[in-house]
Amino acid sequence: MSEKNKCEIGKDISKAKELLDKGKLVGIPTETVYGLAANALDEKAVLKIFKTKNRPKFDPLIVHTNSIEKVKKYVKEIPKQAEILANKFWPGPLTILLRKNEIIPNIVTSGLDTIAFRIPNHPLTLSLLEKLDYPLAAPSANPFGYISPTKSQHVYEQLGDKIQYILDGGESKIGIESTIIGFENNDVIIYRLGGISIEELEKVIGKVKIKKVNGVNPKSPGMLDSHYAPKTPLYFVSNLEFSIEKFKEKRIAIITFNKKLEKTNIVKNYILSSNKDLTEAAHNLFSIMRAADKLDIDFILAEKLPDIKLGKAINDRLKRASILIINEL
Ligand code: TXA
Ligand code: MG
Repeated sequence: MSEKNKCEIGKDISKAKELLDKGKLVGIPTETVYGLAANALDEKAVLKIFKTKNRPKFDPLIVHTNSIEKVKKYVKEIPKQAEILANKFWPGPLTILLRKNEIIPNIVTSGLDTIAFRIPNHPLTLSLLEKLDYPLAAPSANPFGYISPTKSQHVYEQLGDKIQYILDGGESKIGIESTIIGFENNDVIIYRLGGISIEELEKVIGKVKIKKVNGVNPKSPGMLDSHYAPKTPLYFVSNLEFSIEKFKEKRIAIITFNKKLEKTNIVKNYILSSNKDLTEAAHNLFSIMRAADKLDIDFILAEKLPDIKLGKAINDRLKRASILIINEL
């Protein structure tokens, strides 16, 4: 990092605004994960996001603002179901795909005719968004393919040499990315599981469908197979004890829901939630994956969580983080 480019971490909204107004990138806190933000209407600024994250241009960005009125300026329409969901869950961890109008540069949506919008639920970022006369394009603030950041320090460690400012909003409360939904015919389709569970959505809108996708299909939001991955190989397993025994010659870290296991090959046992709370587990997941990735070990074993509520989104992230899914191990 050149001295001139030194990255600062702070709570100064005016400073963040000043940089964003000039077409620069700023790390911003949200309740899900930290974002790497730029003026969504400034093509050059958006291009910097792709470069900084090393993100392929076929993977479109989520756009953030602070009111439904502002969203309306950039989309052709808000379908009735979208309005119901927005009123219920915004500000919050729900991203809604809407038909974009021509004000939004194509680079933001990778040429798709839909745009992903979200009103994040974080006081600092909401007051920043309120002061801006443009929305913010902001993917998670991690190098492409790595684990999403849930603290300003995570952003600093990985992108601190490439950006000038990170707005510090403490730890992300939810800790897992937003749920992405879209509409096909009269159906509500989930493109990515996340901070709002299927159960919560269905209480409001009735039955939803989950998009089944090919892992490398660029039109499939959040659905690239290998994602959210630590550098240390991670195995996502349904029978943890058996796998620990099988790898008794190796040095491993294990990530469990609430179990505490002692074996000589276990260097560290990370517990997601000692009282089996899926919300707490989601909150801790990415920090734990990052911590495990810093250990001197052969690999990480992560156990499957109950496949309900936020457990579904957690299992989805662990599955994508794993180099291989071992059902029988
Ligand atoms: O919680 C979140 O959603 C965080 C915070 C910062 O808001 N953001 C986030 O962004 O997770 P990102 O870029 O890491 O993931 C966005 C996903 C991508 O997988 C992308 O494919 C999908 O959203 N996406 C964005 N726009 C889309 C569109 N128009 N159609 C389909 N998928 C889209
Ligand atoms: Mg991401």
